[in-house]
Amino acid sequence: MAFLADVLDRVKPSATIAVSQKARELKAQGMDVIGLGAGEPDFDTPDNIKAAAIDAINRGETKYTPVSGIPELREAIAKKFKRENNLDYTPAQTIVGTGGKQILFNAFMATLNPGDEVIIPAPYWVSYPEMVAICGGTPVFVTAGIETNFKLTPEALETAITPKTKWFLFNSPSNPSGAAYSRDELKALTDVLMRHEHVWVLTDDMYEHLVYGDFVFTTPAEVEPGLYDRTLTMNGVSKAYAMTGWRIGYAAGPLPLIKAMDMIQGQQTSGACSIAQWAAVEALNGTQDFIPENRRIFEARRDLVVSMLNQATGLECPSPEGAFYVYPSCKALIGKKTPAGKVIETDVDFVTALLEAEGVAVVQGSAFGLGPNFRISYATSEKLLEDACSRIQRFCASLKD
Ligand SMILES: Cc1ncc(COP(=O)(O)O)c(C=O)c1O
Repeated sequence: MAFLADVLDRVKPSATIAVSQKARELKAQGMDVIGLGAGEPDFDTPDNIKAAAIDAINRGETKYTPVSGIPELREAIAKKFKRENNLDYTPAQTIVGTGGKQILFNAFMATLNPGDEVIIPAPYWVSYPEMVAICGGTPVFVTAGIETNFKLTPEALETAITPKTKWFLFNSPSNPSGAAYSRDELKALTDVLMRHEHVWVLTDDMYEHLVYGDFVFTTPAEVEPGLYDRTLTMNGVSKAYAMTGWRIGYAAGPLPLIKAMDMIQGQQTSGACSIAQWAAVEALNGTQDFIPENRRIFEARRDLVVSMLNQATGLECPSPEGAFYVYPSCKALIGKKTPAGKVIETDVDFVTALLEAEGVAVVQGSAFGLGPNFRISYATSEKLLEDACSRIQRFCASLKD
């Protein structure tokens, strides 16, 4: 009898972590490696947020908190949804978790039975299918390819819905493509969902504040209030406030669902870290000046990277609306040979040869369910990005028929 649970057969390790590991190993061997794999802002957490955490420690806010979060944070979350998304939620309809990751997990754990389907547009964030699988559900992938700028069409969504569909998992701006849906594009999807009353929407708005140019962020329950009673709106402080290590995510939705998630969390981790929760109160209620400043920095980096990648032989890189990722296609380079004679047959071959030849670490698109592509995280300095993109250009130019 096997000791480890069968569920492990359905779960893959995180490809993004694997690439970071390989890059670390090459670095340890003395190679000059530029890592463009990490999914976190390179900025430090703003000082006012750090100060709020230090105050919390000094006040003795170091005990267990209610499972769903301290009342002050749930109040701040309800206010945030009203202020930024025009969504009316009471604090009781909100829940705080240890990162957005735990919120997603608990939502699936609280709702999925064997055979239940979750529609996931591809390319998708690596953790989605694995979480669904661990919780006993079946991920159903729908392609949102480069032809539609990595956005799902209403027709594709319609086709994917079956009587077994429980959730439509929506992520805009997207990790890994950076694609974000305009109000009209999103309305076309919510129109489809309005015709299928049994389908719930789990919207991952983690990158809400990282949108560029004149793009305006919207979220499903805001665009279509008719979906309010079957939408879980998830968000967090990790990306917008450079707080990935603090581990605070949150969501709001219908009370019975929130109560079910509270029950699961109560038997698992209980309330999130008390100190991090107080820091998150300051993030949501305090000055928001940090956000537009960072947005400008990210936008300049996006423009630099998109322009340099489109100048590389054989790459095609749409300019995404948000997040801090680009998702170029390397389709035109498949079948070519490296100077060492290795044939590039897949995007895994592409990223491996790129790392070995030029020391640039990126993540293969096949890890995100759509290739041949690769993901670059541009959450690093312009100087490093310029160097990395020059190396990518040189690598692409070195590939021959
Ligand atoms: C799309 C998306 N959702 C959720 C998360 C989880 O964020 P956290 O658990 O740090 O709140 C991430 C982090 O990489 C992400 O990219």
